[in-house]
Amino acid sequence: MSEIVSFPQDRTCPYHPPTAYEPLREGRPLSRVSLFDGRTVWVVTGHAEARALLADGRLSSDRTNAAFPAPTERFKGLQVRRAALLGVDDPEHNTQRRMLIPRFSVKRIAALRPQIHQTVDRLIDEMIAAGPRAELVSAFALPVPSMVICALLGVPYDDHEFFEGQSRRLLRGPGQSDVEDARHRLDEYFAALIERKRREPGDGLLDELIAQRLETGEIDVEELVALALILLVAGHETTANMISLGTFTLLRHPEQLTELRAEPSLMPTAVEELMRFLSIADGMLRVAAEDIEIGGETIRTDEGVVFSTSVINRDDSVFEEPDALDWHRPNRHHVAFGFGIHQCLGQNLARAEMEIALSTLFERLPGLRLDAEPDSIPFKPGDTIQGMLELPVAW
Ligand code: HEM
Repeated sequence: MSEIVSFPQDRTCPYHPPTAYEPLREGRPLSRVSLFDGRTVWVVTGHAEARALLADGRLSSDRTNAAFPAPTERFKGLQVRRAALLGVDDPEHNTQRRMLIPRFSVKRIAALRPQIHQTVDRLIDEMIAAGPRAELVSAFALPVPSMVICALLGVPYDDHEFFEGQSRRLLRGPGQSDVEDARHRLDEYFAALIERKRREPGDGLLDELIAQRLETGEIDVEELVALALILLVAGHETTANMISLGTFTLLRHPEQLTELRAEPSLMPTAVEELMRFLSIADGMLRVAAEDIEIGGETIRTDEGVVFSTSVINRDDSVFEEPDALDWHRPNRHHVAFGFGIHQCLGQNLARAEMEIALSTLFERLPGLRLDAEPDSIPFKPGDTIQGMLELPVAW
């Protein structure tokens, strides 16, 4: 490869990998990319190699390690303290994850479906009452997962403007100090909430963790705050982006949308295909704790590794015609929820939310259309989770 690609980059079209990543597709399964600070790291783009590496205990997620790669200047603000789950390795990671798994099981999430449906219906009722146009991100895509994760955790939804705003700063804030400040405010918020809940318990996951883990001395307030923070942030921002970008993508693919409307039972596979196609979490990060040989290359200890999910999920040795949106492809093996020990804890919840939100939206608003020139609708820059910044629609 002649010139080294810099990573991450903005998408050219909100639902395709950045065109600037073309050389990475040719350079599979591993190549080198440069980060904003001039550092060169490995980028994994081959599907088989990605799954092997994401399951390899020699790659570490410890962000406090000085060798951990930072994709942006502001990311350094997240490296000053240990993050729960995503930022820790086994065995600590496993201990944290085991505390949470029961609440996110297929069965527990299936039991939440009627509640998710009610939330979706109520928001659509409000849109219809105020219609016939809306800004879909603020009217629907963000409140659906935000309300659902609040109910699951036992966080008052009345505080949503505060925590949504701080999450936005955490994920997209302009600089390191902004990220540190947002994190600090969220820490304070959760510490106060936990204190209140100790006096007046509710029935959310946080209440359960307080009773079963905090009061027993198994974890301390700091660890519980860190867990609450990742669950709340990961639980609303990501799914909100999938709902907004998923809606935009469907409206830009009328044939596939017509097929889906005619055959609603396709929705679960359609959601899986949208996950692959959109790959909104584009750039998982690790650092090598030991030398690893893979794909004819050696990743050396302390070298950074990034996984470009959007490129991995379009590996044509696994996905035929990968750039096409196709409800009928066997698509269960995408890595859009990650893979290995850190594979998304909330994936069952995210799937349920996406299925219910998208199917109900298109069913109840049969005339749904974009209310602006598609090319003029702003979407998120490449250095954060991908999605629409706004989505003007009419029906
Ligand atoms: C469609 C929406 C979602 C997408 C695309 C997504 C994506 C991901 C990805 C790619 C990872 C792995 C990151 C890595 O290995 O570095 C991950 C982990 C995680 N996700 Fe999600 N996620 C979504 C929804 C959710 C929801 C609704 C929750 C609810 C709480 C959630 C909670 C988590 C947690 C806690 C982790 C860390 C797991 C661990 O380290 O063991 N996610 N997610």
